Amino acid sequence: MSLTRLNIEAFRNIQSAQLIPAPGINLIYGQNGSGKTSILEAIYFLGMGRSFRSHLSQRVINNDDDKLTLFATLNLARGDSKIGLRRFRSGETEVRIDGEKVKRLSTLAETLPIQVITPESFSLLFEGPKSRRQFIDWGAFHADPQFYGAWTNVRRVLKQRNQLLRNRSAYSNIQFWDQEFVRYAEQVTEIRNHYVDSLNELLKGIIGEFLPSVDVKVSFTRGWDSKTDFAELLENQYSRDLATGHTVSGPHKADLRLRVGTLPAQDALSRGQLKLLVCALRIAQGKLLKQQIDKHSIYLVDDLPSELDAQHRQLLLKQLTDTGAQVFVTAIDPAAIVDSLHTPPSRMFHVEQGRVTVIE
Ligand SMILES: Nc1ncnc2c1ncn2[C@@H]1O[C@H](COP(=O)(O)OP(=O)(O)O)[C@@H](O)[C@H]1O
Ligand SMILES: [Mg+2]
Repeated sequence: MSLTRLNIEAFRNIQSAQLIPAPGINLIYGQNGSGKTSILEAIYFLGMGRSFRSHLSQRVINNDDDKLTLFATLNLARGDSKIGLRRFRSGETEVRIDGEKVKRLSTLAETLPIQVITPESFSLLFEGPKSRRQFIDWGAFHADPQFYGAWTNVRRVLKQRNQLLRNRSAYSNIQFWDQEFVRYAEQVTEIRNHYVDSLNELLKGIIGEFLPSVDVKVSFTRGWDSKTDFAELLENQYSRDLATGHTVSGPHKADLRLRVGTLPAQDALSRGQLKLLVCALRIAQGKLLKQQIDKHSIYLVDDLPSELDAQHRQLLLKQLTDTGAQVFVTAIDPAAIVDSLHTPPSRMFHVEQGRVTVIE
């Protein structure tokens, strides 16, 4: 799967741009502030309905405009698909896939699986469990069609349950919700667990290339003691939950544990090694998706030269090329990427003050 056309209107400093990307490596270069990251952000926005830079989606709309418009043609196994997204300053979002209005943003995500490797995403995985959970859930969502529904239900029931706890309801009132909670929690956990198992098999080889001689172990923790029956645990923890005003244990506390020997990866590895570990994880996810449902991810790699040394840049670009995925990679100096590739990039774009030109 690849983008064969991308139109961007009123997105950050890009008033209007049309790109005809190629399969393989697309190199986007330009000075600081020219709009390189904005192009990656636009692709991400089209797939996810939000930005990877700011949780304030209004900020991405060009300052002089009241709406942004993104449009892309996707080359899928079943043929071409056209997706469009319009976001208004009022907060309203309109999404169309092949002319049909789409209500759920998850439909977009399903159509356009995106992997991001940015300076921010490097640290994110080591800051807290939330982004690690999102990492697992990205894979679980794409791998298993049951996941999205189960997870939506977990969130719904959890909200109800926490509301009851804040109202200091008796456990007999909460127990009704717990039956549902347990059912969906177990469903979500099983899918996540299975996903991390499958990922682990692939990951070994990739970590071996990126971090030879480092023994990284990746494991899944479900968010409660796996030896305890979850329904019982919820009942036993009622007074604790009541005291804190929310549900202390459950699938909303799941995590991906990254360890080297007995230490958490972030204590055992250097900053550079951690970046390579993140690259390995992202590559593994993309590869697994291809194996599981025969779908390619689109990789957005921002500012690579400033993040990795030449040798590892080469290694990452080689791995990305080998996955067969479409890649968008940005740099200030195009030579820093071109010199790290075995073959020239499929296409090069130059960005200058929000204007994009293709280099013939
Ligand atoms: N909503 C907006 N409207 C207009 N310009 C914006 C908006 N948001 C950000 N910008 C500007 O867009 C420019 C491009 O930023 P960016 O894509 O990060 O550049 P690069 O990645 O090439 O360094 C920056 O100068 C920034 O100030
Ligand atoms: Mg940038």
